Amino acid sequence: MTNTRSIWAVVPAAGVGKRMQAERPKQYLELAGKTVLEHTLTRLLQAEIFTAISVAISIEDPYWSELTISKNEHVLTAPGGKERSDSVFSALQAISGRASEKDWVLVHDAARPCITAADIRLLIGSLQDDEIGGILALSSHDTLKNVEGGRIVGTLDRVHIWRALTPQMFRYGQLKQALEASAGNPAVTDEASALELLGFQPKIVEGRPDNIKITRPEDLPLAQFYLEQQQ
Ligand code: C5P
Repeated sequence: MTNTRSIWAVVPAAGVGKRMQAERPKQYLELAGKTVLEHTLTRLLQAEIFTAISVAISIEDPYWSELTISKNEHVLTAPGGKERSDSVFSALQAISGRASEKDWVLVHDAARPCITAADIRLLIGSLQDDEIGGILALSSHDTLKNVEGGRIVGTLDRVHIWRALTPQMFRYGQLKQALEASAGNPAVTDEASALELLGFQPKIVEGRPDNIKITRPEDLPLAQFYLEQQQ
């Protein structure tokens, strides 16, 4: 990677994680002796690529300040927002004095602890000369159905269907502009969709299937298995 521009990481970690039905937000559940969030941040730090990692944390969060990693010199804390996109925007604001418009930002879910340095490097290597940027994604192996009221009303052509993962990599200025323009739009569930609304076509980079998002209780043992396999 010859480009000397700064590369920043943004980690939205201000969600509640209702689908986990746990007593604490999913990013603080324990996985192989550490919290999910510690695994995620450790993986990002180990990549040794980012100038800083800006982490969005809920202002009511009692757990974050207890973690040693929250005091790491490369880790910044920003107040989380109502929706994921608000949290990402806040984390971008936190680096506004330091990041340049054209710097790359990689946004990565706190709930994806199995991210590998190899996938981070693949994403950056594939996109660093791109005008727009793009995302890690997986092609769909399952046949996908359109369903209304419990009945199938159509089958999607899976050749064109990809599952969006993170990191998602965009230029600092363009990402902020896209998030600002789409503020409050419930259709914006990732960064790429904010760019799409402005008419851009972010690129797809095929990622590893073990980069799972912890969403349901059964995802925790699966993530543990993947972390062990990756050692
Ligand atoms: O809920 P979901 O799994 O889609 O959340 C993806 C990521 O966005 C999680 O890391 C979660 O903590 C984060 N998030 C956030 N602020 C919100 C909602 C979600 O930082 N208001």
